[in-house]
Amino acid sequence: MKKLTIRGGIPLYGDVYIGGMKNSALPILFATILTRGKNILYQIPKVSDIDLSLEILSFLGAVIEPLDDGGLLIDTSPIEFRDLPFEVSGKIRGSMYLIGAMLGRFGEASVGMPGGCNFGGNRPIDLHIKGFEALGARVNFTEDSMLHTEALDGLVGNSIYLDTTSVGATINIMLAATGAMGTTVIENAAREPHIADVANFLNAAGADISGAGTTTVKIRGGRPLHACRYTILPDMIEAGTYMLAAATAGGCVTVHNIIPKHMETVTAKLLETGVKVSVTDNSITVESDGRYRGTNFKALPYPGFPTDMHPQFGAMMCYAEGISTLVEGVFPKRFRYTDELTKMGADIHRTEENTALIYGTPRLRGASVHATDLRAGAALVIAALAADGVTEITGVEYIERGYTDIARHLRELGAAIELTET
Ligand code: UD1
Repeated sequence: MKKLTIRGGIPLYGDVYIGGMKNSALPILFATILTRGKNILYQIPKVSDIDLSLEILSFLGAVIEPLDDGGLLIDTSPIEFRDLPFEVSGKIRGSMYLIGAMLGRFGEASVGMPGGCNFGGNRPIDLHIKGFEALGARVNFTEDSMLHTEALDGLVGNSIYLDTTSVGATINIMLAATGAMGTTVIENAAREPHIADVANFLNAAGADISGAGTTTVKIRGGRPLHACRYTILPDMIEAGTYMLAAATAGGCVTVHNIIPKHMETVTAKLLETGVKVSVTDNSITVESDGRYRGTNFKALPYPGFPTDMHPQFGAMMCYAEGISTLVEGVFPKRFRYTDELTKMGADIHRTEENTALIYGTPRLRGASVHATDLRAGAALVIAALAADGVTEITGVEYIERGYTDIARHLRELGAAIELTET
């Protein structure tokens, strides 16, 4: 079991270099299944979700080799169709993309139902299934929790309207549609930057996708895809997490290797609280004395405030002057982290299923708390950095799913943080 021990109350100073975006890298790794040859990918983050994805690709036969220049070579020529039982695919949410990628390449997929972070409610995949069926695939669930899907007459392009804006469904349908004959149009598509990132990778490999990043994505499918070189976008959630850590604990931190456009909602919210933020072409500096105003926000699909920054902002608002209202518009039950913050003395009231009121307090105290999911863990780290005394955080394995060396990065900024393993 791993544990983070943080002695709070130390301001953070220095620079953090942000890695590639986990939520892009996962589907792009699985998208390599659609290609044949030696892909070289840059900015693949070193996080446990990626390690598990690479294990899945190896299981399918891909040959994977780290290169001296930091790239990762993935030779997909030897990949063969295999069933992917739950023990292989079930540990990460991103394995849902195996279904679209296998269907696109082999016209068939047999995958153990995807796992991943549980935000306190189900994470359905009905829209993914609706998309696969619209492309001509039949989908069945077997008794051993396997999803089997097959397009007996081949996949054929179609128009698909998503009832809910879903990142996963947009990407998954895009992957399958790349292998379908004819044109697929996805309406009410999600617009997150990682959707354009996946489309850009596929286009670099020879696909013909337009409109990714807008609500209408058009895929002209059926082209053979070759291997390519591609650099993954920087991780806006990793960057936002360090920005909020600096705002909450105080100090002056610059996050580098970011795309400021992707950070606009986080930057706007920080400015609303009175924290100083300055932006260059590829970096953002956050300067704070740890005192700021409360504010309100609603997590929404991009370009709204990102749900994956909600818990971190919740932690920051615990120390704000005044009252903050947090509304979760994507995963209504994503509030499990608030119980842990309450153990540290936070004053949080749930007024509706998807709403919390936070009464700011100048001080929280260190406590023993548990990360219930990835971003909940990031929220606890932020709260602990500004708290009086020592906080011990378990459930670190969740945090490691999405943050590369978070303890080292924060130590380099001056934090008193130790990672131990028992
Ligand atoms: C992805 C991200 C996750 C992020 C989320 C929203 C990965 C691995 N995970 O998750 O970090 O928090 O986007 O930005 O990239 N929904 C349905 N039916 C479906 C699919 C989704 O009803 O078939 C609903 C969900 O319950 C949720 C909403 O749609 O309320 C958005 O979910 P979605 O965008 O699909 O999230 P994920 O792709 O699972």
